[in-house]
Amino acid sequence: MALVCVEDYEKEAFRNIPKNALEFYRSGAGSEFSLTLNIDAFKRWRILPRFLRDVGEVNTDCNVLGYKLSTPIGVAPTGMQRTVHDDGEIGNARAVGKVGGIFILSTVSTTSLEEVAEAAPNTTKWFQLYIYKDQSLTESLVRRAENVGYKAIVLTADVPCFGARRADARNKFKLPPHLGLLNFQEDGSSNVKNMQGFSGINEYVTAQFDPTITWTDVDWLVKFTKLPVVVKGVLTREDALLARDHGCRGIIVSNHGARQLDSVPATIEVLPTIVDAVGNDMTIMLDGGVRQGTDVFKALALGAKAVFMGRPLIWGLAVNGQKGAEHVLELVQRDLELTMKLSGCVNMSDITKDYVAHESQFSKL
Ligand SMILES: Cc1cc2nc3c(=O)[nH]c(=O)nc-3n(C[C@H](O)[C@H](O)[C@H](O)COP(=O)(O)O)c2cc1C
Repeated sequence: MALVCVEDYEKEAFRNIPKNALEFYRSGAGSEFSLTLNIDAFKRWRILPRFLRDVGEVNTDCNVLGYKLSTPIGVAPTGMQRTVHDDGEIGNARAVGKVGGIFILSTVSTTSLEEVAEAAPNTTKWFQLYIYKDQSLTESLVRRAENVGYKAIVLTADVPCFGARRADARNKFKLPPHLGLLNFQEDGSSNVKNMQGFSGINEYVTAQFDPTITWTDVDWLVKFTKLPVVVKGVLTREDALLARDHGCRGIIVSNHGARQLDSVPATIEVLPTIVDAVGNDMTIMLDGGVRQGTDVFKALALGAKAVFMGRPLIWGLAVNGQKGAEHVLELVQRDLELTMKLSGCVNMSDITKDYVAHESQFSKL
């Protein structure tokens, strides 16, 4: 049967991936309340289409953080992508390069940041950073990313420790023995170089990530790197204002795919508040639950300049490697273009909050 949407890819991927990897990718924290909410909250916004406009040509060219792109749809950083297919991070980076969007490489990738840069030179690449207890390790990651052409540092703020991931606790998810966290293998200063044997990703995070980081570390990073710093994981107006005041250039409104604190709001629910607080000063982006063109359209209408997808690219890779990832991106891109045509928008700047209404507005009628 033809695969025509992300849901189809998800179902198909469930047939291809080994159970412990599948559970690692699929699951959220706690009772997975926020995991479901990330998807459902998009449904609570309706699109208000306008007709009898010339929609012969639609154009999704955009400018995100000063970088010219052909689409506002990008790939979120997800760890250990070669677990589901050997094309892994390189496959995803090349795939999103083909549609002209951003690729964010995870710190905990199964391909080194240098190899990804070399294999996907034409893709706009950002590097996602975790701050390690070993400061020299953090510094070297940033410098290496700068040296090989990554265009922004995305500091993940929402992982002082891992969320309560019941699936991982049950399965003790491990990397298969032939894979490693390749950003670290050459770094003799790090005791993470031989990660093949680690017992559960949770233990790794507890041992390595620095839970004491604060906005002072953000000040340090902003000064240390010549690249723009984007904070990923902001969910409140207060943290958005702090991100701005501490010199960050952008925010990814994210709840880490609902894998950290369960019961947090869906990202689309808090986006309007954050745009209202700092949208004129910073580039606001979003991830979490984006699965189709209408989701992208709604996020853009509510003020996001770009959106990122995490799991859908894992499903694409799992089904057919880089080609699967390309197809997933094409499907969502085509669906965005269709949504634009059917709602009377031909450029990114046409998509404003006039085109969406929250369901609560209709329940009052
Ligand atoms: C399996 C998995 C691994 C992830 N690894 C990382 C990571 O290494 N760094 C990070 O900042 N976010 C990570 N995330 C969060 C994603 O960047 C993103 O916020 C989330 O997947 C978006 O939600 P979606 O999967 O519904 O699209 C991960 C998410 C998943 C599902």
